Amino acid sequence: MSYLLGVDIGTSGTKSVLFHENGTQTASATAEYPLYQPRPGWAEQEPEDWWRAAAESIAAVLAKSGIDAGEIACVGLTGQMHSLVCLDGGGNVLRRAILWCDQRTAEAAVELTETVGCERLVEITANPAMTGFTAAKLPWGRKSEPQVYEKTRKILLPKDYIRLRLTGEYATEVSDASGMQLLDVAGRCWSDPLLKSLGFDRALLPEVYESICVTGRVTSAAAKLTGLKAGTPVVGGAGDQAAGGIGNGIVRSGTVSATLGTSGVVFAHTDRMLLDKKGRVHTLCHAVPGCWHVMGVTQAAGLSLKWFREQFCGEEEAVAGRLGEDVYVLLDREAAEVPAGCDGLFYLPYLMGERTPHLDPYARGVFFGLSARHTRAEVLRAVMEGVGYSMKDCLEIIGQMGVPVREVRASGGGGRSILWRQMLADMFGKKVTTTNASEGPALGAAILAGTAAGLYGSVA
Ligand code: XUL
Repeated sequence: MSYLLGVDIGTSGTKSVLFHENGTQTASATAEYPLYQPRPGWAEQEPEDWWRAAAESIAAVLAKSGIDAGEIACVGLTGQMHSLVCLDGGGNVLRRAILWCDQRTAEAAVELTETVGCERLVEITANPAMTGFTAAKLPWGRKSEPQVYEKTRKILLPKDYIRLRLTGEYATEVSDASGMQLLDVAGRCWSDPLLKSLGFDRALLPEVYESICVTGRVTSAAAKLTGLKAGTPVVGGAGDQAAGGIGNGIVRSGTVSATLGTSGVVFAHTDRMLLDKKGRVHTLCHAVPGCWHVMGVTQAAGLSLKWFREQFCGEEEAVAGRLGEDVYVLLDREAAEVPAGCDGLFYLPYLMGERTPHLDPYARGVFFGLSARHTRAEVLRAVMEGVGYSMKDCLEIIGQMGVPVREVRASGGGGRSILWRQMLADMFGKKVTTTNASEGPALGAAILAGTAAGLYGSVA
């Protein structure tokens, strides 16, 4: 009997989840950390906070489950993608990590396109230059913080920084590496010609593996801090979207997932590399060996509803607190009282700029068609519908690329709402289902760990 540990380095906290090899969740623990926004549009975190949270949550999970750490066959890592950690030659962190949602690199992304050429960039990395992706953060650093840039000897993604602290190894895997925009996504290796045109040293990058490869073993120092057994293997793992895809069973064509988290993501598996010529959806390596995935991203999905709740729902929060209910359940009930279409009121969810389909960091949200007849319930419902239509934009592009879509699996906090799921089903014209697993990315990372440990014959 073996166990598998999935560790998810998220934006609000790190969640460690222990699974029995049969897939049942045994114990889970989360440790949170702050997000720093030193200037408008900037978003940073302390890598040391991630490590503290990872060590704390792993120790808590072991304590809760009461299992012997030696029964853990393998550890799988996942986490927020694209965020940049800069390290000196001794592996010390040189500045706070610049996160995936940080918008400071909009100009650097334009320069990236000018330096490499849009067509060539898409040919190599499968995507046009993206403000949030890691590559654009480097020229920003070279120009704006040369003192940090000159000392930087390695760059890592969040989960790979945790790997370094757990195993002492500098390694990543293809799914997360694709989101750095320095990978040859068709060849599944770093692109030397691209690095050369951008003037970046190949030595800056860690080794890149397939997601099911063991990349190192827990050191005795990390074992002391976490309670894990020294020598436990750590698998490549995956970026949170690819790992979430695996956790939702998106490992072959036909079923796609629609995740309503802070951002909204429509995610599809592809057996061969498929591109949207306009780059409106991302094409990245999947964590399933030799496969790819495409995903459309709505920047502010759950975030739109959270914004509405925080700005306008003080009274509901108080009522929910008194009743011991989730405030979103109350908001669902209110939105369900008014008919679909909100009497002509539309909401565009571009609170944080937008990726799919506009690729515009400067896009902003809109309420359109507001009249004196409109009630609060209609404004609320319009927010949910606007997010749904934005997810439909993602699904339509994926469909136009020739990806078959027979079933949609909803997940994420928003996916728990029956009303929101029904809206998606009506807008997509597809059956929308849920799975009995709620820890998508951590489960996906654990499945990759189980595949590496030989417990499963394949990821699928
Ligand atoms: C994916 C993306 C987010 C982050 C944070 O492209 O930006 O999913 O990984 O969760």
